[in-house]
Parts: sequence; structure tokens; C-alpha cells
Amino acid sequence: MSDDQFKNVIAHAKEYGFIFQSSEIYDGLSAVYDYGQNGALLKNNIKAYWWGAMVQMHENIVGIDSAIFMHPTTWKASGHVDAFNDPLIDNKDSKKRYRADVLIEDHVEKIRQKIEKEVAKAAKRFGESFEREQFESTNPRVVGYHEKIRSVMDRFVKSMEAEDLADVKQLIEDEQIKCPVSGSMNWTDVRQFNLMFGTQMGSVAEGASTLYLRPETAQGIFLNYLNVQKTGRMKIPFGIAQIGKAFRNEIVARQFIFRMREFEQMEMQFFVRPGTEMEWYEKWKEKRLAWHNSLGFDSSNYRFHDHEKLAHYANAAADIEFKFPFGFKELEGIHSRTDFDLKQHEEFSGKKLQYFDPELGENYVPYVVETSIGLDRMFLAILSNSLQTEQLEDGSSRTVMNIPAFLAPYKVAVLPLLKKDGLPEKARDVVNALKFDHMVQYDEKDAIGKRYRRQDAAGTPLCVTVDHQTLEDHTLTVRFRDTMKQIRIPMDELNELVAQKVSLSAQFSKL
Ligand code: GAP
Repeated sequence: MSDDQFKNVIAHAKEYGFIFQSSEIYDGLSAVYDYGQNGALLKNNIKAYWWGAMVQMHENIVGIDSAIFMHPTTWKASGHVDAFNDPLIDNKDSKKRYRADVLIEDHVEKIRQKIEKEVAKAAKRFGESFEREQFESTNPRVVGYHEKIRSVMDRFVKSMEAEDLADVKQLIEDEQIKCPVSGSMNWTDVRQFNLMFGTQMGSVAEGASTLYLRPETAQGIFLNYLNVQKTGRMKIPFGIAQIGKAFRNEIVARQFIFRMREFEQMEMQFFVRPGTEMEWYEKWKEKRLAWHNSLGFDSSNYRFHDHEKLAHYANAAADIEFKFPFGFKELEGIHSRTDFDLKQHEEFSGKKLQYFDPELGENYVPYVVETSIGLDRMFLAILSNSLQTEQLEDGSSRTVMNIPAFLAPYKVAVLPLLKKDGLPEKARDVVNALKFDHMVQYDEKDAIGKRYRRQDAAGTPLCVTVDHQTLEDHTLTVRFRDTMKQIRIPMDELNELVAQKVSLSAQFSKL
């Protein structure tokens, strides 16, 4: 997708009430966005799908809703005060600021693309006899590219682990990484920047204390782990899920809702017996990819990216990357977090956070496998993948959002053919029959064709048209968004048809 197409996604999101820039009348607030009337519905539907798939479909997973404010020691214990940093670098000519790790990863991605080009060329040349693995391990140029990637990443990981920021800068210079805006290599030194937002609790007179807006929802789960385990009589392995806001003072805020300063996470911590975490890590990687694939987008839109540089709490980590309009980027993280967090909270709080395993007859601090997906990124994945311009047989084109029907903001639009002859009243009856189960929109303005197009562009999967024949024989026309096909059915069959087309439970059964 080109830059123009991505701009089109952003413009469409605004025009159809999905996403607005926050505080727009004051010229906006950078990297903060509001969800409009359609956006809020789509977002709620994504949440319901995730929550259902994780909590409703698993007997051993329960959901909580913890507060955004937490005791400040939480963040000392979790390591976020000391280690939740991004390495920053500025280009002195363009005055643009970058994350050093992103500059390096983008550089590596360019080398990967060169490999892909070589592979594509060779595949064409060798035809059916082409074997990718063999080609990649023998072609000197490709072998060289792979070596380059390995050496850059190894050096980067090593210097970050040693907190050798001077070497990170040196690596950028050695690799001749240029500022994408100025094209120069006139870089400042690399320095660390903590991403947490601080705020004050209590009046100054009482001695206010500094709180942080949570940078991840996970810590609310860790702090409640024993409360939930005991009150829910949970037996290991079990999970705790949560959906909620998180806040990060992102240095490089760009790419629309991909990187925001206020965003929402859908996280699940799965507590397991020590030593079994890698098995669960693999299982959750698989399960989460299946959840994404169940949406029906082409599976080539997803890929795993195993982390080379691990976060301070993890012993294994992978991203599920999605092909966003600006390339493959992280959509969800699956992390094996060991017992790091619970052990740290034991140490800082002085409270035991152990589990008595009746099968082993012993106490231990459980290990944790986490799945963490950004709700806003999921929203962007759906929006950008669904928005299509279709060329029609009559030479015209239409804009349509093929949002999976069970996630669509409105499920049905009810349209009286004319604004007279009792058709609006009859259409209102149809709305009233559906609105207890579904989000339904009534629209009588403009010609019917224009109304269909408006609903296509907003992603409404079904349009129901009430005409003069409806008054006579109680039948309706149902038009399907994706095929534009129309069928005529008796009014009393409508509820069942809609339920079948937009059913969330049918979706769960695919998992
Ligand atoms: N608890 C683990 C954790 O927070 P993370 O990889 O930093 O891990 C998890 O974040 C997910 O949250 C990411 O995969 C991404 O989808 C989403 N996310 C992170 N930062 C974000 C931001 N600034 N804007 C939007 N989504 C973000």
C-alpha cells in the first residue's frame, strides 16, 4: 500500500466517524486520538471478540478490570522506573528525533527486502525446481546479506545489554544509516528516555506522591494474582485477562493509531508450573495466530518475529506482525516472562506470592506466559485491510469496507425506498424488530443507490429495503455488502438471517 493509500485510510476513518484527532479544534494533541460513533462500535466489537475467545472460551481464564493508578512501588519493582527506556537519537539537520533501535531495525528490514528480491528473481528463473532454503544457504549474495543482518543485530543487542550507547551511535554511523528526512548522518549522541507519564496524587500540603499512568495493564494482573487465584479457586495452569488503557510518552509518535501516547491493551497472563513455560509459550503463539487467522484476512498478512533483544523480564518473546500499510509491524506480543514480576513484587512488598501445587505438594512462584495485543493496532489492521476500492462491471467504482460482519459497527441498515406512502413507518417496524439484538441504522435520505454506497463505505454488511411490495406481501429486499447481491425474503425470516450472518458465537466455534 502506498503512502497515498494510507492517507486515504486516515481520511476515510475521519469521514465515516471512526477516528478523530483528539482536541482537533485546538489543532490536535500529538499521538492521541478519539474514536467516533462508528469507531467506538468497532472497537467494542473487537474487545468482545477477544474477551470471548480468551475468557468465555477457556474455563481456566478469568477476566479482571484493575485501576490505572497503582502504588508507585509497583513500577520500581517491575523495572519500569529503571529500564522502561527507549534509546533516542536526533538528526541535527532535520531536527527529527528517532528511536535508535527503530533506525537499525528499518535498516535491517531493507536488507531483508533485498533478500526477498533475490529470492523472487531466482524463483522465476528456476521455476518449479526452486528450493528457497537451499538457495538462501548457498547463493553468495544472499548468504552475505544474512551475515550482515546477524552481525548488525548481534552488535546492537550486545551494546544495548551493556548499556553502551556510544557503540549504538557508532553502529548507526558504521552502517551509514541516514536520516530519512535530511538524508544526512549528522547525528547527536544516543541517550535513554523513560516512557512513563508521571502525575501527582494528593495536595502539595499533604505531601503529594508521584504516581505513574500505567505503561502496561499487566502489572494490575500481577498485583491481583493471589486475590484472583484464591477467590476463584484457580488451579495452575490458569490465566487472568484484562482490557484497559495504557500510557506511554512515545518519542516518535507517528503512523496514526499505530503508535499512540494513550492506547488500549488486551492482555492475558497465563500462570504455569516452572519448567513448563516454553511449552505454553509455543501453545499460546499458535492459539493467538489462529485467533488472527479466524478473521478471514489472507494468512500472508501475518508473520512471527522472534525477538533477539529481550525485554528485562522475558526469557523468550515473539511478535505477531501484521502487514500494515507501512509494512510488517508488531501487532501482538507473546512473552515468556518467567517468574520475574511476581518475584520482584514479593521482594518489594514483603508479601508471599506463591502457589501451593497440590499435585507436587510444594509451593512455588508460578512462571508466566503473556499474550499482549494493542486494541488500537488491531483496529488499524482491520480498517486498513478492509478498505477497498472496487471496479464494477458498469465501469463505475465503489468504496467498500469488508469488515468481518460480526465486527462491523452497524449490522443492518433499514432503508425505506421512498419517504412516503407508509414506507418509513413500515421500515421503523423492521428497525424495532431488530434493535433488541443488533445495532441497526435507519436511513431515508437520498436515492437508494447512494444510501447503499454510504453503508458499503461504513462497512454495514446488510441493507434491508422496504418498498411498496412490502406493504402488500410483507417481504423485504436484503442486499449483501460484499457481493451486492439482493434477495427477497419474508419479513419474519429477517431476524434469523441477520443473526446467522453476524453471529459472534459462530465465530467462536471456528477457533
Ligand atoms: N505487557 C507487555 C507489553 O506491554 P509491549 O510489546 O510493549 O508489551 C504490547 O506492548 C502491545 O501493545 C504491542 O504489541 C502493541 O500492539 C501495543 N502497543 C504498545 N505500544 C503501543 C503504542 N504506543 N500505541 C499503540 N499500541 C501500542
